[in-house]
Amino acid sequence: MKFLQYSVLPFLLVVVILSLSGATLVHSHGDFLHCLSLHLANSSTISKVIYMRNNPSYSSVLNASIQNTRFSTPATPKPLAIITPLKTSHIQSTIYCSKKHGLQLRIRSGGHDFEGLSYVSEVPFVILDLLNFRAVEVDTKNKVAWVQSGATLGELYYGIAAKTKTLGFPAGVCPTVGIGGHFSGGGYGILVRKYGLAADHIIDAQLIDANGRILDRKSMGEDLFWAIRGGGGNTFGIVLAWKIKLVPVPVVVTVFTVNKNLEQNVTKILHRWQYIAHKLPDDLYVDVGITKVSSSQAGKKTVQAAFIALFLGGVDELIPLVQERFPELGLAKENCSEMSWAESVLYLGRAPRTSLDMLLDKNVIPRTIFKAKSDYVKEPIPESGIEGFLSMFLEKEADFASMLMVPFGGKMEEIPENELPYPHRAGNLFQASYIVGWSKEENAESGKYISWIRRFYSYMATYVSKSPREAYFNYRDLDIGSNNISGYTSYQQASIWGFKYFKNNFKRLVQVKTMVDPMNFFRNEQSIPPLSSP
Ligand code: FDA
Repeated sequence: MKFLQYSVLPFLLVVVILSLSGATLVHSHGDFLHCLSLHLANSSTISKVIYMRNNPSYSSVLNASIQNTRFSTPATPKPLAIITPLKTSHIQSTIYCSKKHGLQLRIRSGGHDFEGLSYVSEVPFVILDLLNFRAVEVDTKNKVAWVQSGATLGELYYGIAAKTKTLGFPAGVCPTVGIGGHFSGGGYGILVRKYGLAADHIIDAQLIDANGRILDRKSMGEDLFWAIRGGGGNTFGIVLAWKIKLVPVPVVVTVFTVNKNLEQNVTKILHRWQYIAHKLPDDLYVDVGITKVSSSQAGKKTVQAAFIALFLGGVDELIPLVQERFPELGLAKENCSEMSWAESVLYLGRAPRTSLDMLLDKNVIPRTIFKAKSDYVKEPIPESGIEGFLSMFLEKEADFASMLMVPFGGKMEEIPENELPYPHRAGNLFQASYIVGWSKEENAESGKYISWIRRFYSYMATYVSKSPREAYFNYRDLDIGSNNISGYTSYQQASIWGFKYFKNNFKRLVQVKTMVDPMNFFRNEQSIPPLSSP
């Protein structure tokens, strides 16, 4: 892959220089800077790669990709430095110098971590931001692509669409999400029923491990290659790039939105949806987004479910299919639009579709302040249960709350639970996620919104998976458990959150971690811990 540069010599040089100089472990950003500067001898390079707190661009580089602005207040802990490597040797040197000076390293690709773990830490830390590693190389002949971790999903989709209308990729719908975090946590999107997860289509990767070695699939071995495809970022190393298999999509797909609210029998329709959506043909995906909206009665609010769909085919085939399988929805031709698969990503991602260039716009999805949680549903929720959660949307703390129901079935039913670290496969009707937001001015009262979502989550407990209550790793939620960030975390402690995200795959993830990073260099509040204390 031509965009990676494999020079290990400068890295080795800095190791030798520092070993000879007898440098000691000190927690000073000056020493860290000195360490890195030794390597980046060229001063013009330093100014493009290292942003210390006194650099005028420090704040703009830090804030550039923060999606959850809950973590960009003056009180949020800030890194001693942000490193934006231009080549792999810069990454190797950053690993070396962070280790030497006892600094924690946070890896950032797209900055969409729900809990801000890629750019916030309570202990002294530096950010390694892959914003310059964003190349996308699409090979339509072999139906594969190499994509670097710092690219966004939008950049990947744009790169594919620029070359072909008949290939796509089954990852998330939000164009600003980063490849690095998304792929390393699984990654699902509107093709999930047809093709499974993004991680199911990764066939090679380039990774730098805790010793600064550059590895590919062959040299890292199948255990580590298994672990990085869903076992989480900031645990096994820095994934620089991924080789993916592209999937066929038709030239024309159809999308639709049908809204139903409390006055339009929404409870009964939602109840039916649970029996239908996961059993529809794999070419049809119908998700549901629930929010509070204004009612047709002046001054009143109601709760609305938006049924939003992608069909891998034309409208004339879709209408009779939905009329037969889901007549309660009342789908009409005027609800539908035909478009290309790449445009459908913008549609389903609720982004403007003025042109495909919107896929490249870093601000196409507004940045917000939020807290989110996730669940998996294996049995249909009774109407009384649905009424209960819909009524919670009428509470005043839920003005900016939503729930997303993503149908599974299809390909997800066929992939064994231990194929990859992501375990939530057969037997799930849908994945549910809940999100509550508030304005910057209300930050001081954030507690009341966070308690609303915790109450909501507790209400849902009756209706969702149990033992463990499963959760989606990429919808990070520190409420379900956390590592000791500056000390040792036992297997038992990490199991509390680990089994929710990974079920039995957690055990294998711990074994891989113990093998590849026994000193636990790559760590955060929910990284996989090694088996024994380093
Ligand atoms: P970020 O840079 O914050 O990284 C997330 C985690 O991965 C951090 O722990 C980080 O250290 C680590 N990491 C990042 N790059 C790494 C690398 N190169 N090597 C090793 N570790 C690395 N999910 C989904 O499945 N489907 C969807 O449709 C959506 N949609 C969506 C919309 C919006 C608005 C948000 C905020 C989030 C989503 N997500 C999602 C969730 C998303 O998949 C998840 O937050 C990803 O981890 C984000 O990846 P980023 O690279 O953007 O995050």
